[in-house]
Amino acid sequence: MSLEQFDAVDVIRTKRDKHHLSPGQIDWVIDAYTRGLVAEEQMSALAMAIFLNGMNRSEIERWTNAMIESGERLSYPGLTVPTADKHSTGGVGDKITLPLAPLVAVFDVAVPQLSGRGLGHTGGTLDKLESIPGWRANLTNDEVQAQLASVGAVICAAGPGLAPADKKLYALRDVTSTVECIPLIASSIMSKKIAEGTGALVLDVKVGSGAFMKDIDNARELARTMVDLGTDAGVKTVALLTNMESPLGLTAGNALEVRESVEVLAGGGPRDVVDLTVALAVEMLAAAGKPTDEVRVRTALADGRAMDVWRAMIRAQGGDPDAPLPTAKETEAIVAPADGVLARLDAYGVGVAAWRLGAGRARKEDPVQFAAGVELHAKPGDAVMAGQPLMTLHTDTPERFGRAYEALEGAWELAPIGTDIAASPVVLDRLH
Ligand code: URA
Repeated sequence: MSLEQFDAVDVIRTKRDKHHLSPGQIDWVIDAYTRGLVAEEQMSALAMAIFLNGMNRSEIERWTNAMIESGERLSYPGLTVPTADKHSTGGVGDKITLPLAPLVAVFDVAVPQLSGRGLGHTGGTLDKLESIPGWRANLTNDEVQAQLASVGAVICAAGPGLAPADKKLYALRDVTSTVECIPLIASSIMSKKIAEGTGALVLDVKVGSGAFMKDIDNARELARTMVDLGTDAGVKTVALLTNMESPLGLTAGNALEVRESVEVLAGGGPRDVVDLTVALAVEMLAAAGKPTDEVRVRTALADGRAMDVWRAMIRAQGGDPDAPLPTAKETEAIVAPADGVLARLDAYGVGVAAWRLGAGRARKEDPVQFAAGVELHAKPGDAVMAGQPLMTLHTDTPERFGRAYEALEGAWELAPIGTDIAASPVVLDRLH
């Protein structure tokens, strides 16, 4: 069958009229789009038709495979240990990859973590790590292999050869309002993770105001779709649904989050960050065939073994783990107007504020300010006194404060002293 027997207008019409795309249509359109033979406006129309009319299970699987086939598939033939990776669907203050990758490597499971940069209000792992002086995100495939063998963990940029169809399509979806679509998100994430060649994968599917998925039913459907795609591709895949109503930890912003991650690696850090890091590590180790109990995992944080791997990992990529992190030129605090209990702290508002302070970017090519962001001094349930700082805003460009304050209007709420605020669990559900 010739790949050229299809036509973009027919493919768009098929989905526009709510029919299923055939395997041949999917293979053709992804390949032709990657090669520049399907125009951006045609792919925009198709993405919107998919956004509106969905794809069934077999269409999603074919779409994912076609995106994998658009590029290279990595493998780790020289490794004598299993591999496991984690992917988060993105949240505010989500720095978990930083302590998690070295922690898992302590238990002789290698972590090839190919990460991205932040877009919009959610931060990106590479932006965070680039705040460490000297650290380098771009590694060759040979460097990744060598570092996995010597250190056990790599966090780096996905190379241009990995799922190039998704790279083009994700950029297009971003500017055509077609991101928040389960078939397109699931195929986008899983094409990269399957092509990356990991043996086991733990998905952290965020639910709540700071996440793509605002409600748990949609998050569960996304998780189910991704777990099935991974499992069918031979990757041992598990998903945790986790809370993103409030920011994770006490920081949102690049260098601020690195500092907090180092606290976790030093055996301290905020409880929610530690609990989620440990829960995901336990899942990754089990999925990789090396089950380890929670106490042993916590001990590897407390006794410095995970820190040792972190330092080796940062050094291997040119970074200086002892160098001071950048600090912002200007800070301003928001203080509690009265005594009370912090009843609500909205992740989306904090994420947008951090972004507007300079921590994130509006366009792919924009630079980020490494020191910008929001530092929290209270979490929901904490008692505060009038005049006590609730959060500190950090930026190098003080003209940004105004728009950040606007993002935080209505994003937090004080209840009268003595109000009992139920603690929200970090992990809401698990799918396998
Ligand atoms: N992350 C991705 O890689 N793709 C999406 O579509 C959404 C989040």
